[in-house]
Amino acid sequence: MDIEDLPGVGDVTAEKLRDSGYKSIESIAIATPTEIKEATGIGESSAIKVINAARDSLQMGFMTGLEVLEKRKALQKITTGSNALNELLGGGIETQAITEVFGEFGCGKTQICHQLAVSAQLPIDKGGLEKTVFYLDTENTFRPERIIQMAEGLDLDPEKILGNIVVARAYNSDHQMLLAEKAEEIIKEKDIGLIMVDSLTSHFRSDYAGRGMLSNR
Ligand SMILES: Nc1ncnc2c1ncn2[C@@H]1O[C@H](COP(=O)(O)OP(=O)(O)O)[C@@H](O)[C@H]1O
Ligand SMILES: [Mg+2]
Repeated sequence: MDIEDLPGVGDVTAEKLRDSGYKSIESIAIATPTEIKEATGIGESSAIKVINAARDSLQMGFMTGLEVLEKRKALQKITTGSNALNELLGGGIETQAITEVFGEFGCGKTQICHQLAVSAQLPIDKGGLEKTVFYLDTENTFRPERIIQMAEGLDLDPEKILGNIVVARAYNSDHQMLLAEKAEEIIKEKDIGLIMVDSLTSHFRSDYAGRGMLSNR
């Protein structure tokens, strides 16, 4: 189903939505009327109608316990490369989920991201996904040289591993959000199995400095 197929959405509105980055029905369904109004210039009441139509068409959020169980059967675990850490995490980093790694400067967050960029490419029976990965680097700390070391440590072909890591460098928080939106296309195109954002918060902390900006942040 396309945006045009939503009841009450004509070609003009659909084009405005698309041009403003609302390319899927899901993206409309989770937007607020104000966001759509500001991004597209359509009136608030039209925005509400479009959002409601998108929500109706998706039948969002309702699943039986059986369906949840079925979905979780497809869940995979990516090895962190550390048996102790894998055990703590119940086998590794779960797919179908967001995992947040936090800790002070120098504690190893970036190293974990590098390791996962490699281990997600391992065969499934070795704790990987056999998929490509997407690395959103906001602090300019992605180091291909370190990936080569880690790949060699696992007897993998470093060039192949590096070739399967899509890296994007974000220069500020707006750029980071733009890249995150663009990622949707790359994920489909390249069959990405894991997305890393290192770091999620640093640009937002510096672009929205001070207590007065907390709510914007
Ligand atoms: N090539 C390497 N081999 C082993 N340890 C490394 C290597 N590169 C960095 N480290 C270690 O990783 C730590 C840096 O962690 P990092 O992942 O950059 O921290 P964070 O992202 O949490 O600030 C340092 O303590 C450093 O000793
Ligand atoms: Mg870091």
